[in-house]
Amino acid sequence: MGNTFLNLVFLIIFHFSMSTFSMKLTNILTDRSALLALKDHVHDPENVLASNWSASIPVCNWFGVSCGSKHRRVTALDLTGLGLKGTLPPQLGNLSFLSLLNITNNNFYGRLPIQLSNLQRLKYLSFGNNSFSGEIPSWLGSLTELREVSLYYNNFKGVIPPSLGYLPKLEELVLYANQLSGSIPSSIFNISLLQVIFLSNNMLSGSIPAIPHDLFSLESIHFANNSLTGHIPEDIFDRLPNLKKLYLNVNMLSGRIPISLFKCKELKVLYLSRNQLEGSLPVEIGNLNMLQFFTIARNHLQGEIPKQIVNLTLLRIFDCAYNNFTGK
Ligand SMILES: *[C@@H]1O[C@H](CO)[C@@H](O)[C@H](O)[C@H]1NC(C)=O
Ligand SMILES: *[C@@H]1O[C@H](CO)[C@@H](O)[C@H](O)[C@H]1NC(C)=O
Ligand SMILES: *[C@@H]1O[C@H](CO)[C@@H](O)[C@H](O)[C@H]1NC(C)=O
Ligand SMILES: *[C@@H]1O[C@H](CO)[C@@H](O)[C@H](O)[C@H]1NC(C)=O
Ligand SMILES: *[C@@H]1O[C@H](CO)[C@@H](O)[C@H](O)[C@H]1NC(C)=O
Ligand SMILES: *[C@@H]1O[C@H](CO)[C@@H](O)[C@H](O)[C@H]1NC(C)=O
Ligand SMILES: *[C@@H]1O[C@H](CO)[C@@H](O)[C@H](O)[C@H]1NC(C)=O
Ligand SMILES: *[C@@H]1O[C@H](CO)[C@@H](O)[C@H](O)[C@H]1NC(C)=O
Repeated sequence: MGNTFLNLVFLIIFHFSMSTFSMKLTNILTDRSALLALKDHVHDPENVLASNWSASIPVCNWFGVSCGSKHRRVTALDLTGLGLKGTLPPQLGNLSFLSLLNITNNNFYGRLPIQLSNLQRLKYLSFGNNSFSGEIPSWLGSLTELREVSLYYNNFKGVIPPSLGYLPKLEELVLYANQLSGSIPSSIFNISLLQVIFLSNNMLSGSIPAIPHDLFSLESIHFANNSLTGHIPEDIFDRLPNLKKLYLNVNMLSGRIPISLFKCKELKVLYLSRNQLEGSLPVEIGNLNMLQFFTIARNHLQGEIPKQIVNLTLLRIFDCAYNNFTGK
């Protein structure tokens, strides 16, 4: 009886260790074949992958590859600035432990393969300064660990998928310098941990969405150089107590500057130039005593420039050219 029991325990331990062993083996090989598929897909002008990603070196020692210290699976892939040219192979979606994928400053092109939606542990997706095209896929919204989505300087077209607003941990959304159109999805301002949002230099239209609840983390809003219209929502600044930088310049925004803006005491940069703003510059401007860069040039503002502006002792640039200001 005791013997049978011991045999059973032994069998279970043996079985368990064999299965974890074989699982590990398969997974390392899976990571390896995913990376080799990438190597096969790209032109590598500096021969970094050609010389370094070789069978004689363990995968975890390959250039740009980092592995978890315990499980020895690929957790990060950093291939920035290597001049790599090619498409992303679907096999990349097999790197199931990947938390960082940084291919900034290369020449990758084509669409993002849907298999990347399997990277459920991905926190940092940095694809800026490449030549990717097609739409920003809505499946990005299912990668719920994402902290950063960076797709600037590519050729993405179409709308910003509202699903990005369902990324509960997103801190940085960086989509500037693409050809994005349509309106800014209101879901974006639903992300509580959002710190910076860069949507400048696109073709976005429609109005600035309302903000449903306080966004304590949001410090930087870059919407410059789009085709945004309508009024700046009257109360959005009530919900942005820590806003430091606001870029709304080069759009078609109309109406008055909302008074709530002057509650953003942390503002350092305020760019409102090249819109169709009207009315006067409120005296409350004197409240923004952290302000360093302030442009309201090329609007339809009128009245006097409030004397409270002299209290902005940190102000380095104040551009109010091409308005209808009067007085002293
Ligand atoms: C591969 O790259 C790693 C990381 O830069 C480096 O330590 C290693 O020496 C390289 N190996 C070869 C064979 O080039
Ligand atoms: C990896 O991904 C490819 C394409 O998505 C798939 O065909 C393959 O079966 C996957 N698994 C392994 C172990 O490579
Ligand atoms: C990705 O690489 C770029 C360029 O080297 C760097 O500036 C950026 O901080 C990296 N992003 C992450 C999340 O590591
Ligand atoms: C884009 O990457 C290239 C190298 O591939 C670099 O020379 C260039 O300065 C980068 N541009 C930006 C805007 O980061
Ligand atoms: C914002 O989030 C709440 C709760 O998660 C949800 O009920 C609501 O529909 C979301 N609003 C938008 C505009 O996405
Ligand atoms: C606006 O964005 C377009 C497209 O990215 C760019 O070509 C243009 O130089 C930008 N204009 C300004 C004033 O920044
Ligand atoms: C300034 O006011 C005049 C007269 O009211 C008007 O004709 C002109 O278009 C205005 N200019 C700007 C830049 O708003
Ligand atoms: C500037 O600030 C000082 C101190 O807060 C205040 O006494 C003064 O009235 C302010 N001046 C203007 C023009 O707002």
